[in-house]
Amino acid sequence: MFWSPARGVRGLTSQQTTFAVSEVRDWEVRGMKTYSTAASLRAALNVGKRAGKTVAFVPTMGNLHEGHLRLVRRARQYADIVVVSIFVNPLQFGANEDLSNYPRTLAADKEKLFAEGAQFLFLPQVDEIYPEGMASHSKVSVPELSEGHCGANRPGHFTGVTTVVAKLFNIVQPDTAVFGEKDFQQLSVIRKMVRDLCMPIDVVGVATARAADGLALSSRNGYLSAEQRQIAPILHRVLQECREAIACGYDSYSKLEQHARTSLNQAGLEADYFNICDGRTLRPVTADTEEVVILAAAKLGTTRLIDNVTLNVNSSTDWGMLAAN
Ligand code: PAF
Repeated sequence: MFWSPARGVRGLTSQQTTFAVSEVRDWEVRGMKTYSTAASLRAALNVGKRAGKTVAFVPTMGNLHEGHLRLVRRARQYADIVVVSIFVNPLQFGANEDLSNYPRTLAADKEKLFAEGAQFLFLPQVDEIYPEGMASHSKVSVPELSEGHCGANRPGHFTGVTTVVAKLFNIVQPDTAVFGEKDFQQLSVIRKMVRDLCMPIDVVGVATARAADGLALSSRNGYLSAEQRQIAPILHRVLQECREAIACGYDSYSKLEQHARTSLNQAGLEADYFNICDGRTLRPVTADTEEVVILAAAKLGTTRLIDNVTLNVNSSTDWGMLAAN
């Protein structure tokens, strides 16, 4: 154990010590320490860091499901201390999006994180993250990669994500940060931000967790009616069919995209986008593409589902032919 309540916390201001002492009780009772301020989390983490412990971080918006728990499990493989944050970030929601209805299940989330062995939970309020409001807060944005796909229909969304993730990274200062590959574009944007801004953090992506019928696990699945839940796996099925067609050498990407959009619409989904891209640039496939990603988003009633599949390109593939679109 790297931190003993009996020994107290060295090198803290009296205010920080007050935070730490009150949170010791929580830790003693629950076995997982919960912090709501950046200062108190940092102070507690610094004790472990000074003892040479490594830190892995899993940022979330809560309503945790198996997909998130896999991230926590992976994080445990990378570091001595696992920090999870739960913060429903208003900056990444558009005016017409579901911020107020976003599912909040804190008590169940805490139980799950405790059971997975997360040691630190960061649970800030909005005014801890945006003390002077969101409008005047400094922003971090990643041009180009943020602009297509989800970014095209959700202006400002990725700036909201990168701003909060950059801020959380600065608070936690982890060695490793773990994200799900379901949000492929988000992961790409975060990796680019980390590279561009020389953040000393290893970003790890974890494969999408799926239900037995292929539906990618998502907090938003909870909005689906029983009937919609039957239709929802078609998104993944259509992605897989497209992937197989490409793997078999079908080379007319625009026709594949159009066919997929039609299949989704006929099944009762409303295709938002269905794009076959280069996995690195998220732009159209070229002869240099090493990994193809097929990104899709579709609405089912008012619920927006996203998913993706990838396809590695091996050297024997005739990419001159496949890239001709
Ligand atoms: O993927 C999410 O849950 C959120 O976009 C994230 C990364 C926690 C930032 O708010």
